[in-house]
Amino acid sequence: MAPDFPQFPPGFRFGMATSAYQIEGAWDADGKGPSIWDTFTARPGTVRHGEDGRVAIDHYHRYAEDVGHIAAAGVRDYRFSVSWPRALAGGRALDFYDRLVDALLAAGVRPVPTLYHWDLPQELEDRGGWLNRDTAHRLADHAGVLARRLGDRVRDWITMNEMNVHTLYGYALTDHAPARGLGLAALPAAHHQLLAHGLAVRVLRAHGADAVGVANQHFPVSAASEDPADLRAAETFRTLTNWTFSDPILLGGYPDETIRAGVGVPDARLDRDLELIGAPLDFYGVNFYEPTTIEAPRAGKDYTGVLEVDIPDGMPFSPVPVKSDERTDFGWAIVPGALTEILLALRGRYPALPPVIVTENGASFHDAPPGPDGRVPDPRRISYLDAHLRAVAAAIDSGVRVDGFYVWSAFDNFEWAAGYDERFGLVHVDRHTLSRTRKDSWHWYRDLIAAQRRP
Ligand code: NOJ
Repeated sequence: MAPDFPQFPPGFRFGMATSAYQIEGAWDADGKGPSIWDTFTARPGTVRHGEDGRVAIDHYHRYAEDVGHIAAAGVRDYRFSVSWPRALAGGRALDFYDRLVDALLAAGVRPVPTLYHWDLPQELEDRGGWLNRDTAHRLADHAGVLARRLGDRVRDWITMNEMNVHTLYGYALTDHAPARGLGLAALPAAHHQLLAHGLAVRVLRAHGADAVGVANQHFPVSAASEDPADLRAAETFRTLTNWTFSDPILLGGYPDETIRAGVGVPDARLDRDLELIGAPLDFYGVNFYEPTTIEAPRAGKDYTGVLEVDIPDGMPFSPVPVKSDERTDFGWAIVPGALTEILLALRGRYPALPPVIVTENGASFHDAPPGPDGRVPDPRRISYLDAHLRAVAAAIDSGVRVDGFYVWSAFDNFEWAAGYDERFGLVHVDRHTLSRTRKDSWHWYRDLIAAQRRP
């Protein structure tokens, strides 16, 4: 019997997503300088097995084959990010994106570049990174360089990726580059990224972009119990990790709790910044993986190793494992209904919510290498994606306008501090030979796209 695929409205934008540092490799090719991820991964103990993205999956040299894997699935969009240090180097290094965009268009796939996916040039980090307001202006310059270079062929742009995760893991904690460990004092890094987003929107529009959006990670947050302290802690976490990054964009202001925690900008300037940050968008990107459960820190309880991230003492909340019968091999809870829930929550909170694109969703399973028949069976990834696509369809049925869904990821790649063990790809990549093999989930996704009823 033919599989029963979820159905989406005509023109729905099926896609796949990646990011520069996670796939490109060629870390110093053609004059490219280091990013904070080159620096961070060179420090012992930062990444599982001491791995790094120097070679990654060598997409820089194998992009032509990779575009073939993307296009053959029949996707409409491919979301990738531009390495800022590569763009800064200019010349041949920047030519790479010309070649990539041309190859995508020739294969009938729409390029959807993200300006910034966490690989800050080290030279900007040396001047304060995202704690320095000037970095936002440098990002606007980067947007201008790309718009001038690619804007004749690229119509859709994403400004920033997961500013919340970058702020939390890279600035509040030390799990990601640049590993500042500032706790709540990380909030100015959030504000400067949001300002960068606002400035970039202005630049892209000035260059005639058709569609501009952002990719924010969102997740429902619940309290571990009805205890008022847990409810309060969950509310604080929800505000700081979700609404802090979407209210300024979609409501034009920060939540009061964020303002009390301090974004580090004087009031007069903040108003002007918020005007830029709140400029209308053509689409709103939502990255979704799993919900979160929060409790108020219990005196004397040792949270070390409870999750893969350690929350430093003095933070007003502690994530605890989400109750779930099913988990990915990364240990993440599989709760597809949470995707419907967060899409409905966004619809409820933001009257001006533009059409949503799920700019990332997917799962890591430790797939075995291809068997003698050349197949990589990954039934759990298929059922994860099937369930999450149905969760999106349910949100659409309830009135949320969702225009697209991008699988994270097209290829197995460098999963930040977790290195290469975590495989999110529809295409398997051998760690040693770097050879690519389409997994069963790739075939399933192709069939799902082909099975959409045409009007
Ligand atoms: C979100 C990030 O944008 C991406 O870089 C990462 O690999 C996936 N989540 C999975 O953790």
